[in-house]
Amino acid sequence: MQLSDIKTVGVVGGGTMGFGIAINFALWGYPTIISDLSDDVLAGTESNIAHALKLFVEGGLITQDRAGETLARITTTTDLAQLAGQSDFITEAIVERLPDKQALFKRLDELCPPHTILASNTSRLVLSDIGAHAKRQEKLVLTHYFAPPHIVPGLEVAKGPGATDESLELTCELLRSARKIPIRVRGEKPGYLLNRIQHALAREASQLWAEGMASAEDIELGIVSTFGFRMPHEGPFLHYDLAGIWKWPEDVRNPRAIQNEKLREQMLKAQPWFLDPANFDEAVEKRDREYIRRLKELYWKDDD
Ligand SMILES: NC(=O)c1ccc[n+]([C@@H]2O[C@H](COP(=O)([O-])OP(=O)(O)OC[C@H]3O[C@@H](n4cnc5c(N)ncnc54)[C@H](O)[C@@H]3O)[C@@H](O)[C@H]2O)c1
Repeated sequence: MQLSDIKTVGVVGGGTMGFGIAINFALWGYPTIISDLSDDVLAGTESNIAHALKLFVEGGLITQDRAGETLARITTTTDLAQLAGQSDFITEAIVERLPDKQALFKRLDELCPPHTILASNTSRLVLSDIGAHAKRQEKLVLTHYFAPPHIVPGLEVAKGPGATDESLELTCELLRSARKIPIRVRGEKPGYLLNRIQHALAREASQLWAEGMASAEDIELGIVSTFGFRMPHEGPFLHYDLAGIWKWPEDVRNPRAIQNEKLREQMLKAQPWFLDPANFDEAVEKRDREYIRRLKELYWKDDD
């Protein structure tokens, strides 16, 4: 199957994530069907979609005409068979409960044409469990979005245990065609990659709050005004590079304290992860210019 064979996409679950996932596909030209359990829920889904598109127009992201075209590409139904029969790619975004997801994947597997790829937006479960009762193991993938999914560009993707590279490639191609940034995860763990990283921060922040180390307000402000301020530009590896940690003497970098052999080796190399050491000053200046722009935009008042 090729990208051009994906004519219609389905989204099962029209809640917080499903409505935004549907907007994204419809915005980039895909007729999109959303299913949920009742007409009442779907009325809420439709209203959320209309509101989100209004904000896109007001924010200058799209024209009113494009909002109308996007809306016209989205249909809703409570009939799962209708969605399954027409969809070439389906994203599951229902309640995070294993038996429900397993039952849905089994049902979709029975109802869909053989070529249809089934993707889960699970946050904490794994595909080997979710897809345990589906036959089309080669077509089960993870597409884990970040809220709000119609706005946040990146998402993580992974293969189910029996999925082919072709299924993953096509999924990435589809997502890129809808201007998303797929991040490939090689393995399978609950929370996969980015939720694990994100939750590590949240776990520590909540623990420190519970211990009375700081108020929730100060923890929040501390994060967004310090390393959170840097995050649109750099993750932890580029941060090591730009902070010049690779230039520190070996005993200060302290690789002996690092248990993992692969990581120890990397630290011992005393080489940046990404930067060419010859261009270090240039990279730091580029970073600083970007930070100055955002400092002015976010924190300095016009008369400062
Ligand atoms: N909320 C987030 O920030 C977030 C982020 C990433 C991933 N996720 C994951 O996305 C999934 C959906 O989360 P959400 O926040 O949108 O939940 P939600 O409760 O807002 O929406 C879930 C929707 O699924 C519907 N539903 C439940 N069972 C169904 C079934 N069997 N068939 C059809 N529809 C069904 C519900 O009626 C509801 O409208 C979960 O797996 C969650 O872990 C959530």
